[in-house]
Amino acid sequence: MGIETDTACHARKVDQLFGAIASRYDLVNDIQSLGLHRIWKRHVVALSNFSEGETGLDLCCGTGDIAIGLAKQGGSLVGMDMNRPMLQQAARRLAKRGEYRVNLAQADALKLPFGDNSLDLVTIGYGLRNLASMEDGLREITRVLKPGGRLVILDFGKPANHIIRSVYFLYLAGMLPVFGWLCCGNASAYAYILKSLKKYTAQKGVTSVLRFMGYKSVQVIELMAGSMSIHIAIK
Ligand SMILES: C[S@@+](CC[C@H](N)C(=O)[O-])C[C@H]1O[C@@H](n2cnc3c(N)ncnc32)[C@H](O)[C@@H]1O
Repeated sequence: MGIETDTACHARKVDQLFGAIASRYDLVNDIQSLGLHRIWKRHVVALSNFSEGETGLDLCCGTGDIAIGLAKQGGSLVGMDMNRPMLQQAARRLAKRGEYRVNLAQADALKLPFGDNSLDLVTIGYGLRNLASMEDGLREITRVLKPGGRLVILDFGKPANHIIRSVYFLYLAGMLPVFGWLCCGNASAYAYILKSLKKYTAQKGVTSVLRFMGYKSVQVIELMAGSMSIHIAIK
């Protein structure tokens, strides 16, 4: 039997976690954010400027919120995720809307099945924080983006204000596992959000890495006092 690498072990745990909550993922998102995640994802779609003739990838697409929004803008879009149950939810939602312009595919964000410089747009919502290595994920995204291509990232952030950050972390630590337990019988999957956020360098770290990687322009939009952030970067 082979020895599992740290990266493979991390991916397997994340895969199991999302597999366990896939059927209730959308419900818990609505509850935990009071529906606000829908507005933040609409911002992502609007900021993406996806248009006819372009090729795009919604990476870590999950149940497909961002992919569904982008599909309405035109362009040829792939929704990609490593987790089959999450992709099955996305497929169901797309079919219900009669939306057949999105191709769904199962793949690892750290090994994207695209050629170099091949995509006009990559979006990733609440995905980067889940990767075994944010830097490797961003390197892989950068490889597949065309020069001038756009990367739009939405994820949890870390508020700069210490009081707001403490209150926010208390909410994530106290309430999210309760919602997870009530809706999915799974508290630990939702306790994972704060754990992963503490390890994640969030808006400041992502900005530094994107600048270091040579992106022509990197813009950060902070939402809710920095508890969420959107990056828009041009390669
Ligand atoms: C928090 S969900 C976000 C789903 C969706 N983008 C949204 O905003 O609602 C994170 C998704 O990332 C996927 N994911 C995590 N690690 C991944 C990896 N290495 N490769 C591909 N997908 C991954 C998970 O399976 C999960 O569906």
